[in-house]
Amino acid sequence: MLNIGVIGYGYWGPNLVRNFSELRGARVAAVADLDEAKLELVRRRYPATRTTNDWQELIQDPEIQAIAIATPVSTHFEFGMAALKAGKHLWLEKPMTETSLQARKLVDEAAKRNLVLFVDHTFIYTGAVRKMGEIMKGGKLGRVYYYDSTRVNLGLFQRDVSVISDLAVHDFSILDYLLGEFPNAVSASGTNHFPGTPANLAYITLFYASGTIAHVNVSWLAPVKVRQILVGGSKKMIIYDDLEPSEKIKVYDKGVSFTDDPQQIQEMRVGYRTGDMFAPKLVGAEALQVGGEHFVDCIAKGKTPETDGKLGLRVVELIEAATSSMRGKGETVYLQRQRKVS
Ligand SMILES: NC(=O)c1ccc[n+]([C@@H]2O[C@H](COP(=O)([O-])OP(=O)(O)OC[C@H]3O[C@@H](n4cnc5c(N)ncnc54)[C@H](O)[C@@H]3O)[C@@H](O)[C@H]2O)c1
Repeated sequence: MLNIGVIGYGYWGPNLVRNFSELRGARVAAVADLDEAKLELVRRRYPATRTTNDWQELIQDPEIQAIAIATPVSTHFEFGMAALKAGKHLWLEKPMTETSLQARKLVDEAAKRNLVLFVDHTFIYTGAVRKMGEIMKGGKLGRVYYYDSTRVNLGLFQRDVSVISDLAVHDFSILDYLLGEFPNAVSASGTNHFPGTPANLAYITLFYASGTIAHVNVSWLAPVKVRQILVGGSKKMIIYDDLEPSEKIKVYDKGVSFTDDPQQIQEMRVGYRTGDMFAPKLVGAEALQVGGEHFVDCIAKGKTPETDGKLGLRVVELIEAATSSMRGKGETVYLQRQRKVS
């Protein structure tokens, strides 16, 4: 039985505790939060779970083998490093850390100690993203021309992180998973409409050596909630609407073809293909349940999680690049890194 200690029982922590409590082979041994009212909630919902306002108590507990951290991003490095140094496997909420240097240090520490480092990029464990991966990795989409995401709604305004760290991280992790490629340049524009607060709106473009271009539009200042991704390939196109209750993914047999004949290209002889649309069946399990089972399995078998520290680090590198570009009003930031994601 894996004993898990959860630090942070605010908005996201309760989802972790609920899912971990239902896992076979694991239990939530203790929850830490600074807020006594939140701990009171834990005691009412989970009478067998210990509560404390001192996070270090969980780290020092020899009965606890894994720590999950769902506190503000500014605490992730300190808490995460302390957990690893105490020999605990680690579940870290997204984004992994505030800086890529911190993320790299956690990756190294976990590797040195042979500990599992899982970063909760939840979307990777959704039926929809899994299905998109299956379609794209199987070559059914053809060459990927573009990825276009709109992730907007009213709020929740965050005090400590920008809308890039809050919302665009989801697209950065999904792109990493779907394309298996790291961008070679990033350009971002955005703003904070309220002085002294982090950016609440951003438009980010990512350029890939393969020719794929990705655009991510994130905002906390939209009158309606939109969660929509379009992926256009040479053979098919996908629309993923996360707010659709059932048919979240639709695959369109639509596209264009240009002739090889230079003369005809000059004349813009474009062939348009408009075929069928189909909505594939998706695995319905809650992403956190799938991720939780994977975490426990990785610990039991000494495996590397799909959303490991290296993925977490790549996402933090993209947050840094986009933030730096945004400060330069969209100035292109070039990224030095192996293009293929290992
Ligand atoms: N994976 C996802 O889809 C997803 C969704 C939402 C949030 N998150 C992530 O989860 C993390 C937490 O976000 P949230 O929205 O739940 O924040 P929140 O502010 O609602 O909750 C944070 C909790 O941590 C507690 N806390 C703060 N400092 C503490 C300390 N020193 N010791 C113990 N407890 C402490 C606070 O009292 C609060 O209850 C963030 O990294 C966020 O990005 C992930």
